[in-house]
This record gives sequence, C-alpha cells and structure tokens, in this order.
Amino acid sequence: MSVSTDKLDLPMITDHDWTTDHWKKFWNSAPVIPFQLNEFNPELLKREKMLFPIPDKKYRVLFPLCGKSYDMKWVADKGHTVIGVDCSEKALTDFFNEHGMTFVVKNDGSFKILQSTTAGCNIMLYVGDFFNLPSASFEKCDAVFDYGSVIAIKPEERRKYADVINKKTTRDVNYLLCAFDFNGYMDPKPPTYANSPVMVVDAFGDIFNIKPILDVDRERYLRGVPKPVAREHYYYLTKK
Ligand SMILES: C[S@@+](CC[C@H](N)C(=O)[O-])C[C@H]1O[C@@H](n2cnc3c(N)ncnc32)[C@H](O)[C@@H]1O
Repeated sequence: MSVSTDKLDLPMITDHDWTTDHWKKFWNSAPVIPFQLNEFNPELLKREKMLFPIPDKKYRVLFPLCGKSYDMKWVADKGHTVIGVDCSEKALTDFFNEHGMTFVVKNDGSFKILQSTTAGCNIMLYVGDFFNLPSASFEKCDAVFDYGSVIAIKPEERRKYADVINKKTTRDVNYLLCAFDFNGYMDPKPPTYANSPVMVVDAFGDIFNIKPILDVDRERYLRGVPKPVAREHYYYLTKK
C-alpha cells in the first residue's frame, strides 16, 4: 500500500514542478535537508572495485545533482578527482564548510566552480543547471556516482539527462546509478517524480548497457517519513 505525501509533514512537497530557482530557495531556507545522509553510502563502499576497477588508477568521478553528499569526500579521500554539479551554491559551500575544507572560486562557461584548496583533496563543485554542463570545459570523467538524483528530474527530461552524462564521460566510463522506485511505497510529488526500472531503461537504454545489481528498501529517505519510503535500485552502466 502506498503512503500519501499529503499526510506527511514535509514542507518541501508541492503541487507544482520545481525549477532550479525553487531548489536554490529550498537550500537557502530549509532548517534541515530531509534527504541528506550524513554518512557514506554503504553500497558505494561495497562496490569500490566496480566503480574503480583498475588498481592505483586515479579516476575522475562525476556526481550529478550532488547536493552535499558525503560520498564525494569518501571518493576524494581515495585520491580520485571529484566533479560535483548542483544548482545550489549553498549546498556546495555547506559541503566544504561542514568537512572543514577550504576552496577558491573560479569560472567555467556559465558555471561558477568552487575548487578545493585543501591538500590532497581534488574536488571541483560546479554551481549551475546540470543541463548546461555540455558547455563546461572540464576533461571527461571516467566514473559516475549517481545517487537519488534521477527522481529529481522530470520523466520527460531524463533522456536529456542521460545524454548530458554521455557527453561528459569517456567511452570506458563505469557508472553506478541508484534510482529510487516509489511504486507501492509513497506517492511522489515535486520535487520528486515517479520512477521505475522500466523508466530507467527508457531514459538510459539507448546509450548505456544497464545491469541491475541490487534493490533494497530505502529505510533512510526523507526524515520524518514512515519507513521504508522507496525501493533503492542500483545499476551498473557501461556505454554501448
Ligand atoms: C534529491 S537531491 C539529491 C542529492 C544528492 N544526490 C544526495 O545524494 O544527497 C537533488 C539535488 O539536485 C539539485 N538539482 C535539481 N535540479 C537541478 C538541475 N537542473 N541542475 C543542477 N542541480 C539540480 C538540487 O539542488 C538537489 O540538491
């Protein structure tokens, strides 16, 4: 049986679509970020070799719609370069501040870049609309960690989302995708949108081989919501 979001005390749930301006306002005013996981993703930790198969190689890892995900710190601490993208500058400055890192501000096309100056920590966080990313000039990434972001993209824009990732990644990219499925759990309303394994194939299947690797109940998604609230589906994607 699904849970109606109407009955939940979630001020972020709305009846209108969200633009990047809505997201920016949300990050600037929310006392807590309901989807924020203040821990490393255990499934990422278990799949390090899948994402980074060549020992000692330093990868360039794209985090689409990254928010202030702790996982960027874990990846950077392993010596890889992190490229995170989010429209909210507040989310990205909070990331650096909360991890005690320093940064400088640069520019790349329409994007502002917050670049870490902390020793041994190669993190570049791009502030802007993900759909403008093809205009950014950074070297292509050879790994992607994509957690909980697809459901923030309207279904009709997901092929375009997959195409942006295609453009900014190398031919041999290893892509770990986690896309929630709310079916039977709760009724998604903006800023989250419906998703299912069939929709993942529809959005990504023209470009990527899609290997389902795990699905588990999402026990932690959205603070204050009865659990579990979604099924987490993990996929390993490679280019066709
Ligand atoms: C559900 S959150 C996912 C956060 C993150 N992946 C995590 O693990 O915590 C969606 C994020 O996407 C960002 N966002 C939404 N639409 C965007 C867009 N078009 N371009 C860039 N960022 C966007 C929001 O600011 C928000 O931080």
